[in-house]
Amino acid sequence: MTIQFPDDFFFGTATAAYQIEGAFDADGRKDSIWDVFSRVPGAVANGDNGDVACDHYHRYREDVALMAELGMSTYRFSVSWPRVMDGDRINPAGMDFYSRLVDELLDKGVDPWLTLYHWDLPADLPGGWTNRDTAKKFVDYSLAVHERLADRVRTWTTLNEPWCAAFLGYGNGEHAPGHKNPTEAFQAAHHLLLAHGLAVQALREVDPSASLGITLNFSPALPATDDPSDVDVARRVDQTFYRIFTEPIFHGAYPPELLAGAKDFWPAQLVHDGDLATISAPIDVLGVNFYSTSMFRAGEPSWGGPHLLAPDASYVSRGLPVTDMGWEIDPGGLRDLLIHLQAEYTGPAGATLVITENGSAWAEEPDADGFVDDTTTRLAYLRDHLIACREAIDAGVDLRGYLTWSLIDNFEWAFGYSKKFGIVAMDADLNRVPKASAYWYSQVARTRQFQ
Ligand code: FCB
Repeated sequence: MTIQFPDDFFFGTATAAYQIEGAFDADGRKDSIWDVFSRVPGAVANGDNGDVACDHYHRYREDVALMAELGMSTYRFSVSWPRVMDGDRINPAGMDFYSRLVDELLDKGVDPWLTLYHWDLPADLPGGWTNRDTAKKFVDYSLAVHERLADRVRTWTTLNEPWCAAFLGYGNGEHAPGHKNPTEAFQAAHHLLLAHGLAVQALREVDPSASLGITLNFSPALPATDDPSDVDVARRVDQTFYRIFTEPIFHGAYPPELLAGAKDFWPAQLVHDGDLATISAPIDVLGVNFYSTSMFRAGEPSWGGPHLLAPDASYVSRGLPVTDMGWEIDPGGLRDLLIHLQAEYTGPAGATLVITENGSAWAEEPDADGFVDDTTTRLAYLRDHLIACREAIDAGVDLRGYLTWSLIDNFEWAFGYSKKFGIVAMDADLNRVPKASAYWYSQVARTRQFQ
């Protein structure tokens, strides 16, 4: 059986600034909340941090050459806000790095896909995302980056996974800034959405032909049985996982069910007149990050998880194979999700869909030459999820491209370097060594087909 993708379907890889750049204090870069969080004992596995990471800041030419060798047509990267801004002032040296990176990409025929926010908020912004002013600062920062790069970058994503930034950052404390406060989590979620909407409006005004969008993460919640209590708990997980973002962005309102469930935590003055009109400013593309689906049943309420409206959500294993993250592998879940998003959100809005992240972590050991044969693990995962993408396209989904997470093994947030998502390995001397999956994916990218 040959799986064939449309001629204009694009393939590439994704990374994020804090996870790969290193050079944490080079050329005037300031601390982000992840620099600060990584210094808190116990916050990150093994005490790891992004100080050096993949040293991409110094090795970006080598990394871009590698992408080109692998036949990648697109590269999704993020800009580090505290590298390019020092308070309200632009840091020219930091900005220059991204300008050089973009030039290098274009020179090698790789299309730059820029994400403005992948969680590394400047540490000195008072109140972080709990402060409404942060949304305005985000617009200033976005316009500064746009001014410098828009002549060469045509695809702009405002935020990556605001769910993680709000609910892991401020809800259960697993991510920076490590707060555990439901009210702050909802404040952060709204202010992130506001930042997105304001930035879309501002960028649209100065650059009407740019492609603008946001990346959300989806891990659809499935009820363990059709018992109403299980169905209800799965619905409540989805409310804060994604409907809190998709509903205001595409339908201009928070779901009444969400507001009712969050009433004890939702500050009265949080949403100002006009906010929802701003947040629902039309976008061109919805980026989908997908790794897994999860099954839940209604259990005993216990606080501490990120699902603030579903403290009674009890995870149910389906006995499916799991990755090194413990995430069950469910490619059919990706197909069903894409069909759902197209029908309910992007289709009616005239927006397209792109997989901005999909991939898997595995704990393989390199052989004596540093080569990782991930044929039965990462490669198989990639293959099965690409088949799911093809099935979604067959079902009428307007899916335009696929970007795998990630180019290189990197700093996996609270898991440090212990979780390896790269199609390229990195040895102790930071050498890049493509894995079997990289060679296979390279063929797919070049031919747009596989057997
Ligand atoms: C996503 C993040 C990305 C990476 C993958 C594994 O949630 O956006 O940075 O960590 O998970």
